[in-house]
Amino acid sequence: MTARTPVFSCLTALGLSLAVTALPVAAIAADLTVGFSQIGSESGWRAAETTVSKVEAEKRGITLKIADAQQKQENQIKAIRSFVAQGVDAIFLAPVVSTGWETVLAEAKEAEIPVVLLDRDIDPSGKDLYLTAVTSDSVHEGRVAGEWLVKTVGDKTCNVVELQGTVGASVATNRKKGFEEGIAGHANVTIVRSQTGEFTRAKGKEVMESFIKAEGGGQSICAVYAHNDDMMVGAIQAMKEAGLKPGSEILTVSIDAVPDIFKAMAAGEANATVELTPNMAGPAFDAIVAFKENGTVPPKWIQTESKLYTAADDPMAVYESKKDLGY
Ligand code: AHR
Repeated sequence: MTARTPVFSCLTALGLSLAVTALPVAAIAADLTVGFSQIGSESGWRAAETTVSKVEAEKRGITLKIADAQQKQENQIKAIRSFVAQGVDAIFLAPVVSTGWETVLAEAKEAEIPVVLLDRDIDPSGKDLYLTAVTSDSVHEGRVAGEWLVKTVGDKTCNVVELQGTVGASVATNRKKGFEEGIAGHANVTIVRSQTGEFTRAKGKEVMESFIKAEGGGQSICAVYAHNDDMMVGAIQAMKEAGLKPGSEILTVSIDAVPDIFKAMAAGEANATVELTPNMAGPAFDAIVAFKENGTVPPKWIQTESKLYTAADDPMAVYESKKDLGY
């Protein structure tokens, strides 16, 4: 581990960047140890993010310590405290929920260990407590999904059921908000049921089964919007078991772009997905290396790209390109 540079607090307080003796980037990276408090393995996307983080660390010669929190904030807090005690050079945090981080992040800041948020955000009250956040614009993702649906159904009346992500997660709040913005002003498209499916296939299936029951065997459902593809894969299963035809009778739109949704698209059982890159760690490592090398303070938000895929995008080819990436 490198000797700590006591620049994080001073730089952010002064809004300055400090020039320290420059070492070659590779030499600095090779000497870095980063602790990553990962949420768990609730989805294919999450598994890919963990895999890609290891690959990106290895590419740069960075030592990466990953702590799996099994969906619990208390485990993430413990992991951060343990990384602080070990004196790591930086901490990556994928926050399971957006609130309740002030105390532990203040401890990391006090220890002069820069924290980078990966793929999810925390409440604005914690803004001074981390160096940068590498995330997509999750409101935009929801909006893209909503706009796609509006365009696809035209003037037709469309009752939508929504499978939300983890309650309290920034991405769940934002993807809901974005979708509502996307369908706003189109009175023919309405969300008739909305419940959390906790970002998992099993829960997505279970909740979809209850939606189908509540909506006359699914007859009154026009579309399913899921905050991730894994829940949609579960929902597709539930629709098929109920004798419904997802992808034709009932439209689907979700987020992540995991390989299995492209398989479903190729089979005509899914319609659209918005891609979330699993490579959040690469830009985060680069930001940390530059920060350690010469005090370069990264932008507060490093935004990753979001891209809409539909059945028109040769889903089997996309599946082939993604299937070995750790999903
Ligand atoms: O924070 C990103 C979300 O978390 C992904 O969309 C979902 O699959 C994961 O569990």
